[in-house]
Amino acid sequence: MLPVSSPDTTPATAPGDTRRVPVLEAAGIEKTYRRGIWPARHHQLVLRGVELTLYPGEVVGLVGENGSGKSTLMKILVGALAPDAGTVIHNGRLGYCPQEPVVYERLTCDEHFELFGRAYRLTPEDQARSRRELYAELGFERYAGTRADQLSGGTLAKLNLGLALLADPEVLLLDEPYAGFDWDTYLKFWQLVATRRDAGRTVLIISHFVADEERFDCLVQLRDGRAVPR
Ligand SMILES: Nc1ncnc2c1ncn2[C@@H]1O[C@H](COP(=O)(O)OP(=O)(O)O)[C@@H](O)[C@H]1O
Ligand SMILES: [Mg+2]
Repeated sequence: MLPVSSPDTTPATAPGDTRRVPVLEAAGIEKTYRRGIWPARHHQLVLRGVELTLYPGEVVGLVGENGSGKSTLMKILVGALAPDAGTVIHNGRLGYCPQEPVVYERLTCDEHFELFGRAYRLTPEDQARSRRELYAELGFERYAGTRADQLSGGTLAKLNLGLALLADPEVLLLDEPYAGFDWDTYLKFWQLVATRRDAGRTVLIISHFVADEERFDCLVQLRDGRAVPR
């Protein structure tokens, strides 16, 4: 059989190519918090040169003691907080689930999805389809019309996660996502993470303890302001 050659359609990274293109690259990240006023001014050096590279299809755990700077680093990665030094480059969309759910008390779950769908510039059809899938995957469709201030902690955690997933981001960053989950939700969550990994999506998960080490492709530990492999 004759080989068919069509140079115009050769992908930038051919299958089997070992050169992987990062989806997110952070270099030299430094952060100091400054509190109080003179003479009680207090400086706290939290990050002192963090390097972190994430690749497509990777599930990475970010671990470290309480107060080691995990949330600070994640806020910097998503652009919610400015570092004192360093750079963050990302290819593609980011989805972020903060440690404390940020929701509007008086809006229902459906209204949250509509609001975030507009912010992500999704068409109403794409937003509705993605929302239906997320309700089914996480199992909270029956709360679609419930206001956020009437939701249990567990359902609030699902809404928080669902909003981060609405636009199907290339990189999903989750700050201690399963604190409010019951066992069933915990399993659904890992099913969802596995599906994303298979689709070549990347997930970075902060956890102050790692119960299921085998679920991660690699673990990165924050220690003394730096990220080290674990
Ligand atoms: N906005 C802030 N202002 C001042 N200090 C802060 C602020 N946010 C966090 N810190 C301090 O920085 C350190 C790292 O916090 P954080 O990133 O939340 O750690 P982790 O998520 O690993 O528990 C902690 O000592 C915390 O008290
Ligand atoms: Mg934290």
